[in-house]
Amino acid sequence: MSDKLWGGRFTKNESASALEFNASIDFDKRLYRQDIEGSRAHAAMLARCGIISQEDADAIDAGLAGILQDIEDGKIEFTIDNEDIHMNIESILTERIGTPGKRLHTARSRNDQVAVDFRMWTREAVQNTMEDLKRLLHSIYTIAESHQDTIMPGYTHLQRAQPVTFAFHMMAYFEMFKRDYSRFHDCLIRMNENPLGAGAMSGTGYHTDRAFLTEALGFDRTCANAMDAVSDRDYALEFLSDASICAMHLSRFCEELILWSSAEFSFIEIDDAYSTGSSIMPQKKNPDMAELIRGKTGRVYGDMMTLFTIMKGLPLAYNKDMQEDKPPVFDAYDTLSACISIFADMLDTMTVKPEITAMAATKGFTNATDAADYLVSKGVPFRECHAIIGELVLYCISHDKALEDLSLDQLRDFAPQFDEDVYARIDIRTCIKAKKSEGSTSFESVRGMLEHADQFLKEIDG
Ligand code: ARG
Repeated sequence: MSDKLWGGRFTKNESASALEFNASIDFDKRLYRQDIEGSRAHAAMLARCGIISQEDADAIDAGLAGILQDIEDGKIEFTIDNEDIHMNIESILTERIGTPGKRLHTARSRNDQVAVDFRMWTREAVQNTMEDLKRLLHSIYTIAESHQDTIMPGYTHLQRAQPVTFAFHMMAYFEMFKRDYSRFHDCLIRMNENPLGAGAMSGTGYHTDRAFLTEALGFDRTCANAMDAVSDRDYALEFLSDASICAMHLSRFCEELILWSSAEFSFIEIDDAYSTGSSIMPQKKNPDMAELIRGKTGRVYGDMMTLFTIMKGLPLAYNKDMQEDKPPVFDAYDTLSACISIFADMLDTMTVKPEITAMAATKGFTNATDAADYLVSKGVPFRECHAIIGELVLYCISHDKALEDLSLDQLRDFAPQFDEDVYARIDIRTCIKAKKSEGSTSFESVRGMLEHADQFLKEIDG
């Protein structure tokens, strides 16, 4: 007989290479806390239901509490001989308390055990990610709040388009990360179902109390179908999808910081503490953190694709392929969390250069739409205005002038409707102030956004 916990049916041990290949302890040891919490609840449930004695349950509980302490104190060495975290802990327990330890696995399978452990781990990961996002939202709010008067060009096709405020641009990102926050929140609501008690996949013949387990482990509901309970990894995929979207938002933001910190833009300066130098070019100050976040976004997408690909062809219920679900989730969580945190640090310390951003906004005809709107206000149909201003821009380009540099006579050569009031109307600040629509860049509108944001932050800060 093999010496494994499951060895009864075997005539010899697995080969050394199979043992090593099969083992997941190197990575699933991260589930130790959840595994112990799940087992303690399970033992308590078994005693309540009269399936094991109260003394056995007490011995198991004390044994597991001791193991938890010892793991946290670094006193326990796991072994690949016991394959995974579940069997490592069970073996140590039995070594320490004897027979009661052997009763723990009654009415349970490693399938519902790993399902509950991983779900609890992921639940915590989602909650922590939401905390990370909270911090980022505060950083974005702060920088937006202090740049309500900073004018910059808004871009489309990376060509200067219309003037906006720096606060407005920042608040666009606030919206994105606020949606990310709510996506993680939704994920949490959907995933918070308890798979423990499903057994291997069809339930168990013992009179167990799943509702007790659900309550004890902080779940909102019990998984309704035992086969689904042990097969489902949707929640992890949802976390990875949400993480990918969030990383994509971070990556776009990073791309802008990289552009803006270049000499060509010079809109911002990233603090020395979040920049690096070149080994050969003494003048260089590189935005490595932002570039790395942009790069690591690919890694998070990769983690998501890994798990989607693992799951796509699996028949119900449990298959060993599913052991591979953990590394991508661990990696995406670690990566995203580090990215959000360093990104928020970078935002908190970066310097914005309002004179330069405003200068860029006055160049590049960002007031051309407003000049067209001016003619509309004088009764010219918009399509005609568009054509007139287009010709004016062409003229200005060839004479190296801005629209506001032309005299009234010169303007009237293009349209007789131009009047002295055009200059005030196409002033860059007026262009911003003149925006009337909900959600616009006008100073007033952005002030409203900040008020809403402040309220939202207070709500989530609780
Ligand atoms: N280490 C396994 C995993 O992570 C635990 C579940 C094993 N179940 C089984 N029937 N082999 O998926």
